[in-house]
Amino acid sequence: MAYQLSAENEARVKEIVTHYPESMSAILPAMHIVMAESGWVSVDACDYVAELLGVPKIRVYEALTFYTYFPQKPVGKYHIQFCQNIACTLREGENLIQQLKDKHGIKEDEITHNGLFCLHRVECLGACGNAPVMQVNDDYYEDLTPEKLDELIEGWKKSAGNGNA
Ligand code: FES
Repeated sequence: MAYQLSAENEARVKEIVTHYPESMSAILPAMHIVMAESGWVSVDACDYVAELLGVPKIRVYEALTFYTYFPQKPVGKYHIQFCQNIACTLREGENLIQQLKDKHGIKEDEITHNGLFCLHRVECLGACGNAPVMQVNDDYYEDLTPEKLDELIEGWKKSAGNGNA
């Protein structure tokens, strides 16, 4: 089925386009609206945005594939993007990724059975001074330690009312 934003959000995109001299400039704001409504950005959604803005589809695909911020598949309620770049790796980031997998059953590129978590490796999140760093949805978690990571994961499980991943 073809992708379609809600009427309200489609109107928001049409309004946002009026802020720019060229509709191409509204691609990212439009994709943010798709993300907020759907939680991820499908190829169908890209085609829809391209048509809505009157821009070539390739321009929207380029944005989708350049920014890891836009997941191309459905994600868990807590979308964990763990930095795998040099500063985070030097400060035990790899061990923390392993901890997510071994202790919490959160596997890379998969959504946990309860739909709560998914884990993706990403390149530098631009917060190297506070490595190791992960982004969960729109928030950064910095200076992570094994204890801090456990506390965060357990807190999210509790707030979702589910102790198991
Ligand atoms: S290396 Fe991890 S935030 Fe830059």
